[in-house]
Amino acid sequence: AAVGKGNYRHFMEKELHEHPVVLGDTLRQYIDPSSRAAVLPELPFDPAVVPRLTLSACGSAYLAAQVGRYWFEQIARIPVDSDIASELRYREPVVPKGGAAVMVSQSGETADTLAALRLLKQLGQKVLSVVNVDESSMARESDGKVLTVAGPEIGVASTKAFTAQLAVLACLALGFGRARGVLSAEDEARLTAALLEVPAHAAALLENGEDIQDLAREVVQARDVLFLGRGSLYPIALEGALKLKELSYIHAEGYAAGEMKHGPIALIDPAVPVIALCPSGPLFEKTASNLQEAAARGGRIMVFTDAIGAPSLRRFAERVVVLPTVDPFVAPILHAIPVQLLAYHVAVLKGTDVDQPRNLAKAVTVE
Ligand code: G6P
Repeated sequence: AAVGKGNYRHFMEKELHEHPVVLGDTLRQYIDPSSRAAVLPELPFDPAVVPRLTLSACGSAYLAAQVGRYWFEQIARIPVDSDIASELRYREPVVPKGGAAVMVSQSGETADTLAALRLLKQLGQKVLSVVNVDESSMARESDGKVLTVAGPEIGVASTKAFTAQLAVLACLALGFGRARGVLSAEDEARLTAALLEVPAHAAALLENGEDIQDLAREVVQARDVLFLGRGSLYPIALEGALKLKELSYIHAEGYAAGEMKHGPIALIDPAVPVIALCPSGPLFEKTASNLQEAAARGGRIMVFTDAIGAPSLRRFAERVVVLPTVDPFVAPILHAIPVQLLAYHVAVLKGTDVDQPRNLAKAVTVE
C-alpha cells in the first residue's frame, strides 16, 4: 500500500516523528534486553580476528559510517579506514588479507556505494551492508547484511534511516568489542542500557521542540552557518550542515571544533551563526573553549547541550538548547535529531520544497 503523510504537513515531519518507534524497533533487533548484551547478526567474517574494517557510503549514510568509525575504534579496538564511496577507488586502497568492509545505505541502490562494494569484494574483503531495503542490490551483492528497521523513507533527506544506521553501528561496535575481549560485560550492559533509553529521549525531544523552532527563526536569516562538533559529534556537525544546505539552500559548513582556528574563524561575523554540538562529557571543556574563542571575536554562538553543560555555556552563548543528559556514547544519536529538526523548520520558514529539494534525488543511481 502507498505510504501516506497522515496528519503531517510533510513526509519529513512524519518521518522525524517516527524516530522513537524506529529506534526502538531497530535496537530491539540487536540488543537482548534481559542480558543487556548486543546481539550480533550472522556475519561473513569473524569480528574477533578481523584485522581492519573499511567503511564506505555516500551522503548522510557516509556520516553515519563516520560515527561508526569512532565507535569501532573506541569500543572494539578495530583499526578502521573510511572513504566516501565515490572516492574509494581513486585512493587505490591497500586492504589486508582477511579484512572486511561495512557499507551503509538506506536504499541499497546508490551507484557509487555499489561500485565501492564491488571493488572491495574484488580486493578480497568480506562485505557486510547496513541497509534499510532488504532485497536491494547492495543487500543481494554483499556477503552479509544487517537491516535497519526504519520502514519506508519518502523524504529525500534522510532522517529516521540515518539514526537507525547509527543504532545498528552502535550495536555492532558493542558486539565486536565483546567478541574481541576488549569490552567487559559490565560496560556492555551500561552502554546497551544507554542505547535503550534513546527512544524515550527522542520522544521527549520531539514533544518539546519550541526551542528549536525559535532557533530556526534566527538561522533562517543567516547568510552562512558554521556547525561545530568534536569526537563522535563531529560527523553530526557535518550532518547538520548537510541537512541545512539540502533543505533550506543556506550555505553551511561542518567543522571539527578544534579545526575552527585554522580557517573558519576568519568567517566569524554576526551574519554567520555558529551552531555547536557540545554535550557534557570528556570533550566538553575543549569544545566550550573553542566556542568561547569564537564568541570573543563577535561570533553568535548557538549550542545544543544538556543540563550539565548549559550553565557554563550560557555565559557567552546567545542560545542554549538543552537536550536530555545521556552517556557520551549515545550523544551522536540524540544530537542527530535536533539538527534534522532545525533544518526542517528553517526550510518550512523559507518555503522550500522540504520533501523534494531541488536537484536532489532519494537514491542516486548514476556515478
Ligand atoms: C541521496 C539522499 C541522501 C542519502 C544519500 C545516500 O543523496 O538524498 O539523503 O544520504 O543519497 O543514499 P543511500 O540510499 O545510499 O543511503
